[in-house]
Amino acid sequence: MKILVIGSGGREHAIVWQLKQSRLVKKIFAAPGNPGIGLIAGCVNIKADNIKGLADFAQKNNIDLTVVGPEIPLTLGIVDEFMRRKLRIFGPNKQAAEIEGSKAFAKEFMRKYHIPTAPFQIFTEPHEAISFVKSAGMPIVIKASGLAAGKGAIVAKTQEEAVEVIENMMVQKVFGDAGAKIVIETFLEGQEVSMMCFTDGKSVKMMLPSQDHKQIGEGDTGPNTGGMGAYCPVNFVDEATQAFVKEQIIEPTISGLQKENRIYKGVLYAGLMLTESGPKVMEFNCRFGDPETQAVLPLLKTDLADIFISIVDGNLEVMDELEWHPGAAACVILASRGYPQKAETGKRIFGLRNYSDKKCFLYHAGTKREGKNWLTDGGRVIGVTGVDKDLRSALNRAYEVVESIKFDGMTFRSDIGFKANMQWKKSRV
Ligand SMILES: Nc1ncnc2c1ncn2[C@@H]1O[C@H](COP(=O)(O)OP(=O)(O)O)[C@@H](O)[C@H]1O
Ligand SMILES: [Mg+2]
Repeated sequence: MKILVIGSGGREHAIVWQLKQSRLVKKIFAAPGNPGIGLIAGCVNIKADNIKGLADFAQKNNIDLTVVGPEIPLTLGIVDEFMRRKLRIFGPNKQAAEIEGSKAFAKEFMRKYHIPTAPFQIFTEPHEAISFVKSAGMPIVIKASGLAAGKGAIVAKTQEEAVEVIENMMVQKVFGDAGAKIVIETFLEGQEVSMMCFTDGKSVKMMLPSQDHKQIGEGDTGPNTGGMGAYCPVNFVDEATQAFVKEQIIEPTISGLQKENRIYKGVLYAGLMLTESGPKVMEFNCRFGDPETQAVLPLLKTDLADIFISIVDGNLEVMDELEWHPGAAACVILASRGYPQKAETGKRIFGLRNYSDKKCFLYHAGTKREGKNWLTDGGRVIGVTGVDKDLRSALNRAYEVVESIKFDGMTFRSDIGFKANMQWKKSRV
């Protein structure tokens, strides 16, 4: 098979690496990819949102399967265009991708199908939103409904702050049209985890639970980022919790989407808060999470290409259960000084090596190559993943590699996994 992977981050590097192991795969292209991906696949210079360009490429090059990494092409309808041209593609269609592309849609959908989530209200008028928060308890969560690159959800601690957030989103339009509609929801207390699944729109195979580290600073302090690290599995997500998420959250979501004729063949990601009254959905993503994927896929034993094919063909149900390597994986993101505000770029990176023992992975995100030299080229530069018998050993392995890599202004969190072993109080009815 010839496969095209769309995207250019660490997530896509992890997907490409995994596909590379498959006996079904002959050639992999990435669009646009990055120079790290370029070491193991052919990079084609077509941007992820250039849907016509990507479809033309797939057609001309007889691509057997296209896999979409990021959300933007999905919400723009890349799947619909590929399906129209009878090209095989892994991802939800435009209507199904609304589960991520419109938080207002996702919340109303969850209400309709009784999927546990925080109580909420939707607003399109700033004065109505403002008068609402003036009589609401704090903290409260205010979210731009549209896509805002992971920056559109704000926890307001005071009413003044809440009013300011509403004005920024709806009047100043700091997120453009994405903030024309907002969701205001109850603040949930608990442990945050990510659960992803594969689905062909009918049946579901759960991946192992993982946990992201969104904030830039140690101990979850400072501004939110795209994610500074992740680990998998999460030991406090026990089997009962996993079963609850599958049966009460994921499956009803998939069957609801099916009822509404929204075609979903891809990865569904649930961002969850484990609260005293059970797991609640904070958001859905319509694709693999990043950096979670950099910690989840290295543990996947089942052939990823096999999974993709079963899904595209609508045969996921008859596929065997997923197999996982024992142990744990931990990913530490190396970022540039200034990230997540204004990241420095163009710094020479020292110490990059090829690890071929399947215990260490370097997933490139913001790198650039100049002759023999590697340079930084973005906020998140590289994800370093260690795999080992348990989380502690996986972390040690990742940090050992981190210590061997250097660039001016290199920033990383040294506390990835610090919330592992925490408990969450369950009081379910
Ligand atoms: N209801 C909530 N209660 C507490 N924290 C929340 C809530 N909703 C979101 N958050 C926090 O804000 C972060 C971002 O929110 P999310 O809905 O995932 O939006 P996005 O990823 O699009 O920015 C979450 O990861 C979580 O830390
Ligand atoms: Mg999120």
